[in-house]
Amino acid sequence: MAQIIDGKAVSAAVKAEVAEETAKLRDEKGLKVGLAVVIVGNDPASRVYVNNKKKACEAVGFQSYEYALDESTTQEQLLDLVNVLNRDDRVNGILVQLPLPKHIDEKAVINAISPDKDVDAFHPINVGKIMIGEYSFLPCTPAGVMRLIESTGTDITGKQCVVIGRSNIVGKPQAMLLLQKNGTVTICHSKTKNLKEICLGADILVVAIGRANFVTGDMIKEGAVVIDVGMNRLDNGKLCGDVEFESAEKKASFITPVPGGVGPMTIAMLMKNTLTAAKQQAEIE
Ligand code: GUN
Repeated sequence: MAQIIDGKAVSAAVKAEVAEETAKLRDEKGLKVGLAVVIVGNDPASRVYVNNKKKACEAVGFQSYEYALDESTTQEQLLDLVNVLNRDDRVNGILVQLPLPKHIDEKAVINAISPDKDVDAFHPINVGKIMIGEYSFLPCTPAGVMRLIESTGTDITGKQCVVIGRSNIVGKPQAMLLLQKNGTVTICHSKTKNLKEICLGADILVVAIGRANFVTGDMIKEGAVVIDVGMNRLDNGKLCGDVEFESAEKKASFITPVPGGVGPMTIAMLMKNTLTAAKQQAEIE
């Protein structure tokens, strides 16, 4: 039976580290850390995420600046705001909550954010830096996954790592991070043939395909570390991951639950990125 990886506890530990360093920067250097969060429209899920980000900022001692814009905001107005925030010295990190309304080109907005303030690490410059291993920020979810794997004491070097999902936000950067830790990495996706066979070879399996209960216990190698990035809502209102937990926990050595696994890590890593941004902008370290 697998040990359950407690994402809430690991997330709390990361936030405590950030809070401690933030207090030290304030006391010793007079430095304040600020995160601007921009939300456009009324998507209820986005509203919840943004509120959680604000709460996390308060908990670690950051200033948070929220910009809640109307659904009808034009792309030009949003780009103008991003440019103002790029120049605002109180703002160390800028996060524009996605998805944006359909009439706004997300790429144009991401590209407008100063790479130095891009705490999501979505800007092409930051994505490119991940490829060459010279990054300042890591995208929050894959960075959180790495921290969870680390919390199990698993050495990634030489391990067979399988990532299911190839999104720009999770799958692709996740594969790069596992590769940097000397894993042997395979990326699978919806068109992959013999997926079960590939999964059965995985010592570390990261699942981010966005399909409820997609990976079942019979696809998991005995003793594997299984990280479930999925967050799906079933018809009965319950949340579930991309991994069928009951059958998977019988095979894995470590497994993340949903909720309470990867989810809490994402915001913790966002706080960490914002602190890193503030230090870089103040030329500390
Ligand atoms: N929407 C869902 N997840 C994210 C995220 O990590 N960053 C941003 N900016 N928007 C999101």
